[in-house]
Amino acid sequence: MSKIKFAVLPGDGIGPEVMEVALNVLEVAADKFGFVCDYERADVGGIAIDRHGKALPDSTLKLCQESDAILFGSIGGPKWESLPAREQPERASLLPLRKAFSLFANIRPGLLYPELQEASPLKPDRIPHGIDIVCIRELTGGLYFGQPKHTETLPDGDVQAIDTMIYRKSEIERITDVAIATAQSRRNSICSVDKANVLETSVLWRKTVTDYLARKAPSIDLSHMYADNAAMQLARDPNQFDVILTENMFGDILSDEMAVICGSLGMLASASLGAGKNSQGLPFGLYEPAGGSAPDIAGKKLANPCAQILSAALMLRFSFGQNEAASAMEEAVQTAVKSGNRTADIAFAGEPVSTRKMGEAVMANLRG
Ligand code: IPM
Ligand code: MG
Repeated sequence: MSKIKFAVLPGDGIGPEVMEVALNVLEVAADKFGFVCDYERADVGGIAIDRHGKALPDSTLKLCQESDAILFGSIGGPKWESLPAREQPERASLLPLRKAFSLFANIRPGLLYPELQEASPLKPDRIPHGIDIVCIRELTGGLYFGQPKHTETLPDGDVQAIDTMIYRKSEIERITDVAIATAQSRRNSICSVDKANVLETSVLWRKTVTDYLARKAPSIDLSHMYADNAAMQLARDPNQFDVILTENMFGDILSDEMAVICGSLGMLASASLGAGKNSQGLPFGLYEPAGGSAPDIAGKKLANPCAQILSAALMLRFSFGQNEAASAMEEAVQTAVKSGNRTADIAFAGEPVSTRKMGEAVMANLRG
């Protein structure tokens, strides 16, 4: 029987609660689809700062290196907010992990089931059938990692800070490849978002994406949009998009906007795929819910485990090639929500269910 080996990094806040539910669901999927889950837990984020003195301990990194994927919970909370920016759980663990595993492709589905339309801040007539779009964000280039990057005091006593926005053609081509594959599995359309009216990197971005698609996938419907307009269009008519392809910083901003128009952060998964292959010959990846650690509801049995379950499904699909199991998990979540099982974030008028009950409903659907 095939084995899937992954590192489990539950993190802080609601992370550990929703992670336990997702692991239970994975076990049911493993049973049904005939594979074995082989995983180990390790500390990351604030809890790792408390226990090991740093947000990404060497032992955690080592476990990840010995695994084929990382199932990540969520990190951070008020306890660690007073730390210097560089030592904050988010920056001191997520960014080094992205760097260490060259996690260049961030895939964030923006999915709102029609039944949950009420959860979106958009007017119902803008999204009569819910929302179904995907943001493909470049994750290891641009302003986040470009050098030089520092703060300095000038001879005249003024202080200046520098971040560098830098992109290579090869970096743009490899993320475009991911967008192509995604579009081909969906509605065959890509909107590439840049700021080519101002930025050199965006001029290169637009030219590279255009040339690459003409060569590799001429049948895909390609359009280009400036980032400011894209932010506006997302709020006006999100379903005009199928796949949004963009660089690191624009993707950070647009994917948060996409998350909010999709209603609850508790429903959104994400995948960050690496340049390297795992022992299965598939991309190594880090899979995490789009929402944060929600410290205000941690330990109260209120958290929505769906985003963590859906992230685990993405892990099965991308890093282990278990497509059938992945789709079955996604359907089980959708059926659970459709049949009225709702945690507090998506309950509206009805009686909300607990984190555990939500998980049980998903597992019951998965068992069939
Ligand atoms: C995200 C987050 C991170 C980012 C932070 C926590 C460093 O906002 O994954 O979108 O900016 O990439
Ligand atoms: Mg962000």
